[in-house]
Amino acid sequence: MGLSELPHTPEEIIDDPMLMTGGNYIKEGLDSAKSICLIFSPGEKDQVGGLAKCLKLFEKHSVNLMHIESRSSQRFPSQYEFMVECAPGGDIGGAVTNLRQSSAYFQIISRNHKDNRDTVPWFPRRIRDLDKFANQILSYGAELDADHPGFTDPVYRARRKYFADIAYNYKHGEPLPHVDYTKEETETWGKVFRELTKLYPTHACREHNHVFPLLIENCGYREDNIPQLEDVSNFLKDCTGFTLRPVAGLLSSRDFLAGLAFRVFHSTQYIRHASCPLYTPEPDVCHELLGHAPLFADPAFAQFSQEIGLASLGAPDDYIEKLATCFWFTVEFGVCRQDGHLKAYGAGLLSSFGELKYSLSGKPELRPFEPAKTAEQKYPITEYQPVYFVAESFEDAKEKMIKYAHTIPRPFGVRYNPYTQSIEILDSKPQIQTLVDNINEEMQILMDALRKL
Ligand SMILES: [Fe+2]
Repeated sequence: MGLSELPHTPEEIIDDPMLMTGGNYIKEGLDSAKSICLIFSPGEKDQVGGLAKCLKLFEKHSVNLMHIESRSSQRFPSQYEFMVECAPGGDIGGAVTNLRQSSAYFQIISRNHKDNRDTVPWFPRRIRDLDKFANQILSYGAELDADHPGFTDPVYRARRKYFADIAYNYKHGEPLPHVDYTKEETETWGKVFRELTKLYPTHACREHNHVFPLLIENCGYREDNIPQLEDVSNFLKDCTGFTLRPVAGLLSSRDFLAGLAFRVFHSTQYIRHASCPLYTPEPDVCHELLGHAPLFADPAFAQFSQEIGLASLGAPDDYIEKLATCFWFTVEFGVCRQDGHLKAYGAGLLSSFGELKYSLSGKPELRPFEPAKTAEQKYPITEYQPVYFVAESFEDAKEKMIKYAHTIPRPFGVRYNPYTQSIEILDSKPQIQTLVDNINEEMQILMDALRKL
């Protein structure tokens, strides 16, 4: 597949991925990956010309700035707050020490948090920040392991590169690229679709079975058609505000989970190799659209997923692993009890004909979903799970997840603001007061509506 057939101009394609030392594919370059973000408020006494004074500090310590922004402070009413992104180099330590002394509020957020104490691991604060890490992938989608069913198939490999390039060049806010799937790809989808839809009525949870007919009606879910990510994403947005975004390869757990905080799900767009329609060693479009997408249309499940994402923002590395494990045993391989029967809601089960039957067969071990315990469970990724965790309901799982998130050491709370599509770092009384006022207003609306019933 030639580059000219990609839905981008040739100029945009020039910055193809490059393998950097350390093994990561990074589009924006290592400098951006190692940059440090400082959020600070100069304090009352330094309001006039506050930013100019701070910028002089960076100059004094030979620190170059890649990005500067100023906003009205939510912590100190009628004051300003600044965010600067420092390039590596210069005496950052000296600048940080000086700035901390002269600031009423100061926070460091860095990708390089392991080398910097008192630093919060970097996380996206605005939805468009997801563009930054979507290009920091651990492997490029076109690379296949030697035991991958498509390893020796040059046509399949070229096709995988085509899909990886689409995702690599995608930017937030753009429509999701439409893909013309080949006859062979559509046939593979058809085989998977036919087998799985036979099992859904008896094996899938109530929520999945409720949404699936809507996807057939609205998004072109059919045996002879692979739905377009754009159509599914628009449908989900109408239901719960979730959206899909194409991903070029494997993301780190930290980055993948952070997307969920914004109700963004990173989705593959390619399909498994035609030689093994009922098996795939990695997520593909069948897994995403048949397994994940229906559940993200359910409000309680959407909120549960977002809670895992919010809990991950700025969390220490060991907690990221625990949260990724909770994600694995719920969103990927979760089962739940409904009307006394065991049903599957995890996408790994709902997209695997064999494991969907096995998981509910009574053979594997079942344990109740308890985040603190579930988070410690080791799991295989290439064979059936030896143990499944049972959720009583999505509401119940969400409550447990929120309680568990409180045990994660983090110097602030976080909240997603859907109006600005950004994460608010909650660490001051005025912010909490504003939120309480908002909740009061919402309560008034509810009370008013209740009176009218
Ligand atoms: Fe998945």
